Amino acid sequence: MIQMPLHTHTPIETLPSTQPTASPRVLALCGSLRQHSRCKALLEASRLRAGPDLRFSHFEGLGALPLFNPDLLEAQAPPAVQAFWSAVDAADVLLIASPEYAHGVTSVIKNALDWLVGHIPFTDKPVAVFNPSCRASHADAALKETLRTMSARLIEGACQQLDATRSRLSAQDMAASPDFAPTLDAALQAMRSFATQHIHTDTQASC
Ligand SMILES: Cc1cc2nc3c(=O)[nH]c(=O)nc-3n(C[C@H](O)[C@H](O)[C@H](O)COP(=O)(O)O)c2cc1C
Repeated sequence: MIQMPLHTHTPIETLPSTQPTASPRVLALCGSLRQHSRCKALLEASRLRAGPDLRFSHFEGLGALPLFNPDLLEAQAPPAVQAFWSAVDAADVLLIASPEYAHGVTSVIKNALDWLVGHIPFTDKPVAVFNPSCRASHADAALKETLRTMSARLIEGACQQLDATRSRLSAQDMAASPDFAPTLDAALQAMRSFATQHIHTDTQASC
């Protein structure tokens, strides 16, 4: 276990903490800033397949986060960071889809996670990770290792590998495609079950 610096922040608005809710809140994080990102399409396809029993939202501000610098935590954190913290704090589950760049994670997702190191409400946060490529494994393994080190709870069954980077389908077509829909449904069901059982009772094992 790494030594994590402790830091606090002033929420920009009062948001409920991670508490049992009738409809778990899923916050989607995309590790690519590309307008036509396949990861973004995959996350949107997930939103389209999620029923009303999952409150799904995308966090669009990862590109606005400054490069992580612990010095910035000595005073009040930058507004973009506070907005990110607030969104994460309010989520019951984080869903990450991020590409592999040169056998590593993208700077976008790593920078975002660095801002969550030592952020107390992130501890034990349920997280699902989509590997958007059937050819890439380095970034997926590294991302999961980072998340485990940060004491996130990876949700078994919700961490899926989908062949999105080679697909040219729109999010709508992806959501309807037999190549994606069953896997997305399995992941969403795992998130639902985890949120219902684990967040309420704190007993389910994670992967
Ligand atoms: C700088 C760069 C490095 C990449 N490195 C890898 C890699 O190591 N392994 C791989 O499978 N794909 C690699 N790719 C391909 C990306 O995974 C692919 O373009 C993916 O669609 C990008 O995600 P996005 O569509 O969500 O932006 C790389 C792409 C870029 C732009």
